[in-house]
Order: sequence, then C-alpha cells, then structure tokens
Amino acid sequence: MSDSSTLGENLTPFTLVPMTAEHLEAVVEIEQVGFSNPWQKRDFEYAMSRAGSWCVVAVSSGELVGYSVGFRVGQEFHFADFAIHPGLQRRGIGRELLRQVLGVLHDRNTSVATLEVRASNQRALRLYGRSGFSTVAVRNGYYSKPREDALVMMKALEGRLSDWVGEVMGTMSSY
Ligand SMILES: CC(C)(COP(=O)(O)OP(=O)(O)OC[C@H]1O[C@@H](n2cnc3c(N)ncnc32)[C@H](O)[C@@H]1OP(=O)(O)O)[C@@H](O)C(=O)NCCC(=O)NCCS
Repeated sequence: MSDSSTLGENLTPFTLVPMTAEHLEAVVEIEQVGFSNPWQKRDFEYAMSRAGSWCVVAVSSGELVGYSVGFRVGQEFHFADFAIHPGLQRRGIGRELLRQVLGVLHDRNTSVATLEVRASNQRALRLYGRSGFSTVAVRNGYYSKPREDALVMMKALEGRLSDWVGEVMGTMSSY
C-alpha cells in the first residue's frame, strides 16, 4: 500500500510503505536511539515474518522518518514497536503516522488496537492519549533495562472500549 500525507506547511510530508529488509539498517539506527533496550535486526525480521504482522515505514524525500510494527490477532491489532527519527520528533509525525496506521486498520475491519508503553514514557503516553488510547491495565515489572511497569493501552476502532477490555486482556497474556 502507499498513502501520501501532507502534514501542513511546516511539517514533514511522508509516504507510508511496507517495511522490507532494505529498511532495517535505518530502522535499527532509530531504534537504538529511541529505546533503552532496543530491538535488534533479527527482532524486526521475526516481526515481519510473523503471522498477521503489518510493519510499515514512513519515508520522506528518500529518508526513513519513522516506523510502526504490529500484528493482528483476531479482531485486535497489537502495536509491538513504534518510533520516529530522533531528529524529527515533536513535529507531529508520530501523531500522523499513528493516525494513518489506525485509519488503515479501521478500513481492514480491525476492532481494537492495543499496545504497551513504559510507565515513564511521558511523550509516548501523551501521543497515545491524544490519539484516543486509554490505559486499561498495568503489567508490573514488565520491562527490563531498566525494570519498569508497562501500561497497557487500548483504543476501540469499533464499538465501545468496555466491550473489548475483558476479551483482549485474556489473549494478551499469551504475547
Ligand atoms: C513517542 C514518539 C513516537 C512521539 O513521536 P513524535 O513524532 O515526537 O510525536 P508528535 O510530534 O506527533 O507529538 C509529540 C509532541 O510534539 C508536539 N508537536 C506536534 N506537532 C508539533 C509542531 N508542529 N511543533 C511543535 N510541537 C509539535 C505535540 O503536541 C506533542 O507534544 P507533547 O509531547 O508535549 O504533548 C517519539 O518521541 C519516539 O519515537 N520516541 C522514542 C521511541 C518511543 O518511545 N516509542 C513509543 C514506544 S511505546
């Protein structure tokens, strides 16, 4: 798929394209700056090969500016990784990338989007909160390096969030 987006005069327009092996060097560079316990190349290769996976990169003027990695389980899409190039953050790219990904998921009849986020990651929490995600649970000590709780966030793309929370929390324990 290909979806072009203009974010406004000051903002960086990008195109959404499927993640391939050719993107992984740039993806891993962004990942290493963005996370204290970053995924390695093999983690992205595994994610791309997983059943139900949908992994995309945002490309602007030939440069990779961000990516979204996730997979579908039944009616749910679980975001496993999401980041914006460190030199291009706080310009609305994260919000727009998330908006576009959620739009495609909605068009593909996904009912609920889920993710986990470090409890201290204020920037990500604001982004997800403003994009309509709600915190529905805490996973104590879920992350390592450093050890930290995860907040489980969900957004209903169809119906009400309360319709999905119980159902999804059951399947999430097997991730
Ligand atoms: C979290 C992350 C994806 C957010 O991406 P981003 O592109 O910086 O997000 P946005 O620019 O859309 O929004 C972030 C902030 O920029 C602000 N912003 C948006 N457009 C702006 C503009 N034109 N000018 C100034 N600020 C702007 C937003 O209001 C928001 O501000 P806030 O954080 O103070 O509320 C990014 O910080 C990142 O990659 N972090 C490292 C990896 C990570 O933590 N991923 C999430 C894992 S769950």
